[in-house]
Amino acid sequence: MASGKLGQSLSAREVLELVRDPLQAVEREIGLESMAAVDVVTAISHYLNANGGKRLRPTILLLSAGLSGSVGQTAIRLAAVVEMIHTATLVHDDIIDDAETRRGKPSANVLWGNHTSVLAGDWLYMQAFQIALRQRNFQILDILISLTQRMVEGELLQLERIGRVEISEADYMELVDRKTASLFAACAELGAIAAGASDENARRLADFGWNLGMAFQLIDDILDFTAHEMVLGKPVCSDLREGKVTLPVIYALPFASSQERRQIEEIVTRHVPQALPEILSLLERSGAIGRARERAEEFASRARSLILGFPDSSYQRALLAVSELVTMRDH
Ligand code: IPE
Ligand code: IPE
Ligand code: MG
Ligand code: MG
Repeated sequence: MASGKLGQSLSAREVLELVRDPLQAVEREIGLESMAAVDVVTAISHYLNANGGKRLRPTILLLSAGLSGSVGQTAIRLAAVVEMIHTATLVHDDIIDDAETRRGKPSANVLWGNHTSVLAGDWLYMQAFQIALRQRNFQILDILISLTQRMVEGELLQLERIGRVEISEADYMELVDRKTASLFAACAELGAIAAGASDENARRLADFGWNLGMAFQLIDDILDFTAHEMVLGKPVCSDLREGKVTLPVIYALPFASSQERRQIEEIVTRHVPQALPEILSLLERSGAIGRARERAEEFASRARSLILGFPDSSYQRALLAVSELVTMRDH
């Protein structure tokens, strides 16, 4: 991918090169720590890890540690922790959403069923906390526990709002804050803490992570309408069918004819996807996709400005690159 518009950030490959060794150590840690006394849990976690995933959260944590001084054993361990928490949320999310594909393969709920998958998700959460506990650091546990509660609250709020067309932009943003941005914020903050950053720098990095996470989920919600399943590795056009009104739809609704509004209500409340092509055309025609993309760009640009406040280094340039790549991504 091309280097950044600012001419000072790195390409995706250069970012990965910078964290390649610690990221390999994270993979080893995840592999070792995903061995449960019950084989099926080990099988599920190995299956999910083997199927890829962008490893964005550990990457952010490691880069944030690098920016704050050094990438040591604590950062590697915490990077494994955040990826395991992420994996647990995906396992639970796919059960809730009744999704069939994750990371380009059948999702865990399809292969092992809901009952086993929900318990495997629980085990993964607890294993992640178990690893974090070894640091004997209450600040770290505090961040991780608050974060996980916020994510679960986000999923609960989302459930409450399923099937409701009248969702405000503020309601939507609150959901994104909880279900996605809070984890990104924690990743950047934990990286800083692992490297012994000052409170002020840790807060600034948390703020960076939060803005990055907001941009990331807005793009995820746009990709749900615009991407191809083969590239995305998970179902497309699924949010509306699952009854979820996301930002592109919120922006399109004021431009919808009464028939289009009825079609949207129909799909959100009764999950009948017949009118999807008409709705997709409305999203493009009304400029709603473009506006949602601009909103994502605003969060990404706020993230960049926070990183620009740090002295120039390869880690600083890598974090700038990540905040550009997040809005350019196609999966
Ligand atoms: C998916 O996250 C869940 C969201 C917050 C949208 P990713 O897109 O980072 O998933 P993987 O880890 O790369 O599969
Ligand atoms: C992602 O929400 C939030 C999580 C915490 C998993 P989505 O429902 O949009 O995630 P995908 O699209 O299934 O990955
Ligand atoms: Mg989902
Ligand atoms: Mg999604």
